[in-house]
Amino acid sequence: MTFDFDKPIDRRNTNSYKWDIPERHMGCSDVLGMWTADMDFQSPAPMLDVLQKRLDHGVLGYTIRGQRYYDIIQDWLQRRYGWELEKDAIHFCPPGVIPAVCMLIEVLTKPGDAVFAFMPNYDSLYGAADSMGRRLVTVPLLFTPQGDPQCSDWHMDLEAFEKAAVENDIHLALFCSPHNPVGRVWTMPELQAFADICKRHDIFVISDEVHCDIVRPGVRHIPMGSVPGMEELSATLMSPNKSFNVAGLMTASVFIRNHDVMADFRKKLSSWAMTLDTVFGTLAVEELYSDPACEEWLDQVNAYLTANLEYAAEYINRNVPGVVTYVPEGTYLLWLDFSGTPYRDGALCEHLVKDCGLDLCDGREFDPSKDDHMRLNCACTRATLEEAMRRLQIL
Ligand SMILES: Cc1ncc(COP(=O)(O)O)c(C=O)c1O
Repeated sequence: MTFDFDKPIDRRNTNSYKWDIPERHMGCSDVLGMWTADMDFQSPAPMLDVLQKRLDHGVLGYTIRGQRYYDIIQDWLQRRYGWELEKDAIHFCPPGVIPAVCMLIEVLTKPGDAVFAFMPNYDSLYGAADSMGRRLVTVPLLFTPQGDPQCSDWHMDLEAFEKAAVENDIHLALFCSPHNPVGRVWTMPELQAFADICKRHDIFVISDEVHCDIVRPGVRHIPMGSVPGMEELSATLMSPNKSFNVAGLMTASVFIRNHDVMADFRKKLSSWAMTLDTVFGTLAVEELYSDPACEEWLDQVNAYLTANLEYAAEYINRNVPGVVTYVPEGTYLLWLDFSGTPYRDGALCEHLVKDCGLDLCDGREFDPSKDDHMRLNCACTRATLEEAMRRLQIL
């Protein structure tokens, strides 16, 4: 089966977060939504059919996840990541990955405790430390350009991480894997070296792996909970949200092998009366993770996204003076460096919206110091991306 990702679908006036927030557009109309991380494609048809059938049933009462959900998750993790996980290490976490991160922060630390994150980082992930009243301690990722636009040159500064851990008495780290916004898919030696530090200093890791299924050909994502030695020292969070473009279904899963942490997490969910799932979320996960046609859709969308990213990166590096980027190993997001242009701070966003009609993510969301970076979402039709490239001008 071949899926048609070129099919144009107008998302305006559908309460789309990406396309329908007019205040982001500074009074301009005809702005292309290239910011928040969802895709402009229809989800796999077999899943839409399953949801339609449930809708036809017509009774949409309180919903649980049954044995089928656990079987399918176990099978998915084994098939995709070679990760054998027992049923009692699996829990669903409505309404999404970030609410679960917030609850785990509450479970694992006290107000005022230090929580670690590398920067730049996804704003809602590192921001969760602050919003839960913890003290965020950050270390910059290292950028060591080798001059190869096919290669992402971001690395963890592990020496600085260990120093910060000791100095700040850190026992919890927020980890993004694959990394948003720089697009790294961490390798086993990198994860192992990070894990060694965590083990030495008893640092529990909350690993946000929401982008885990969107990777370039030949690149392999490794779940944190499967890294030797991290079984008891991590919570791994995944969801079909990015992979199959179902963010609006608000569904996710968390994998915790540490029995005490899992017990406390369950208690926390229950104290917030979050013990039931959404009817469509449950059905979607089960169908998406078990139907070979959905996995085929995932392979094809990955191929389409890779072609989009390669096209846009090449176009920008060749044609947009002062802006550089590279093809990331994972995610469908390009991290653009505008430092060779005169634009800084709000002037960069203003130029892109008002002069170019492009709504990208401001780099400062990911790191307050990145006033010369923007994040471009390439999960759109090729026609939309080509239009965005035509519009991207440095005056
Ligand atoms: C790294 C990362 N984590 C989490 C999320 C949001 O996940 P959820 O909607 O499940 O909270 C996003 C969305 O862009 C993301 O990029």
